[in-house]
Amino acid sequence: MPDDDTRRLVAAQGRGFVATVRPDGIPNLSPGGTTEVWDDEHLVFPDLYSPGTVADLAGNPAVEVNVVDPVRRRGYRFRGAGEVFTRGEPYDRIVRRFGRKRGTDPAPVGSAVLVRVLGAEPLVSPAYEGGAAEEGIAAHRRARLTSGTDAAGDGREEPG
Ligand SMILES: Cc1cc2nc3c(=O)[nH]c(=O)nc-3n(C[C@H](O)[C@H](O)[C@H](O)COP(=O)(O)O)c2cc1C
Repeated sequence: MPDDDTRRLVAAQGRGFVATVRPDGIPNLSPGGTTEVWDDEHLVFPDLYSPGTVADLAGNPAVEVNVVDPVRRRGYRFRGAGEVFTRGEPYDRIVRRFGRKRGTDPAPVGSAVLVRVLGAEPLVSPAYEGGAAEEGIAAHRRARLTSGTDAAGDGREEPG
C-alpha cells in the first residue's frame, strides 16, 4: 500500500524496473520509462514495447517493480500481482491519464498493466552506512552524473 513517501518517490521518478517470471522459470527484467501510482493499492504502467513482460503476466501474475532515485540513492521495491488490460475499463482510463499527465501517445499502448501491491520495502544504498547525510550523497552523485568523472578527485568510488 503506497504511503506518502512512496507516492512522492514514484511521482518524481516516474520509471521502474519490472521483473516477471518467464514460463521456463527464468527471471525477466525490463526497464520501463513509465510507472505511476494508480490508487492506494496499485501501481500502473502502459505497455509501449514490453511484449515479454505482458506475456509473462498472462501466465503468472508475480511481479516486482523497483523504483529508485539515482541521486538520493533510495527507492522502493514493490512486490505484487500484475493484471493486463487491453480494452474497455480500466484500460481506457489509464490511457487517458497517461495522455493527460505525460503526453503519452495512445497509439502504441498495446495494453495497460495494473500491479496490486502486496508488499513494499525501502531500498537504501550502502553509501548511507556510517550515517552519511543524504545531502552529501546527493551532491556527490549529481556531480558524477553531470560530469561523468570522479567529482571528489580522490579516485575513490563511494560504496553503492
Ligand atoms: C530507458 C528506457 C525506458 C523504457 N521505457 C519503456 C516504457 O515506458 N514502456 C515500455 O513498454 N517499454 C519501455 N522500454 C523498452 C523496454 O524496456 C524494452 O522493449 C524491453 O526489451 C522489453 O522487454 P520485455 O518484452 O521483456 O518486457 C524502455 C527501455 C529503456 C532502456
